[in-house]
Amino acid sequence: MKIEGIPHYRDLDLSGEARAAAERLEDRAREAASDSMFDELVVPLLEPPPANVLEVGCGTAALSRRIARLLPGATVHATDKSEGMLAAAREYAESEARANAGANASGKLILGRWDALDAGSFPFEPGLRFGLILSSVVVPYLDDGQTAALVRDLASRLAPGGVLAFIEQDLQTDAVNFPRFDLARRVLDKDGRDLKTTLTLGVRPLLREAGLEPLPRRSFLWTDDGYGPYTRELLGRLADAALEAGRITAAECEEWGIGLEALADSGDFYYGLVYHRVAGRVPA
Ligand SMILES: C[S@@+](CC[C@H](N)C(=O)[O-])C[C@H]1O[C@@H](n2cnc3c(N)ncnc32)[C@H](O)[C@@H]1O
Repeated sequence: MKIEGIPHYRDLDLSGEARAAAERLEDRAREAASDSMFDELVVPLLEPPPANVLEVGCGTAALSRRIARLLPGATVHATDKSEGMLAAAREYAESEARANAGANASGKLILGRWDALDAGSFPFEPGLRFGLILSSVVVPYLDDGQTAALVRDLASRLAPGGVLAFIEQDLQTDAVNFPRFDLARRVLDKDGRDLKTTLTLGVRPLLREAGLEPLPRRSFLWTDDGYGPYTRELLGRLADAALEAGRITAAECEEWGIGLEALADSGDFYYGLVYHRVAGRVPA
């Protein structure tokens, strides 16, 4: 699915958007809400501490870096299909290591290129089994059949008692505080989205079919009250796409930008989106 106004995450190397996409993902990771979301949705999965962790579609590996910081004894394998994205991930990891030199030991972070739709090209030892496998916001870029195959493949890479977890955006829940509701509706254009069976909570039945025992869903409302760089870029891109598609006029596009600035200045800006953690464990 190509969500309008969002970089072409399906193949960032082909579209040439890897660097720009890396910057926006890192901007999102730096928002305070991302720290809180990590505490709420991921930290409970780190007990007991897994020895080996795998992240699929890691982007800038912000999530893997966070996990490595908390698990000094673990090896965190962060993979992505895009060379450009992995190059950015490497730079962020190196600069973070320099900044934290002398601080508490962290786990080992290993980056590897993997198109997760090609199980045979797995870049690590094929027999390696993981106590935790995570993926965040990759499923929207796969079709239903690809997601089902990926869940089966990842489930087969789990160690006894291991957990496979997806952190996914609920695209039916994004909201912006904007007084002209009809304009906000045409910019966000929820009706025009290609919602698929396996999006978000649709992954739960797949976990069961792969022989895993689903864990209770956990959800987190990711919000930005400060009109930070990530949200600014996102809402700008969505408006540009709406203009290009003829859903809003040039004057309305300008009104959107000016209106959001005014909301930020008055302290009334709000953007929110619910993320769900959908996870399953290898039964005892
Ligand atoms: C929206 S980004 C999410 C990145 C990161 N997980 C995060 O939440 O910040 C989607 C990522 O999935 C990667 N991706 C897309 N299709 C993939 C595939 N078939 N195999 C591995 N990675 C893929 C993209 O290159 C991109 O880095």
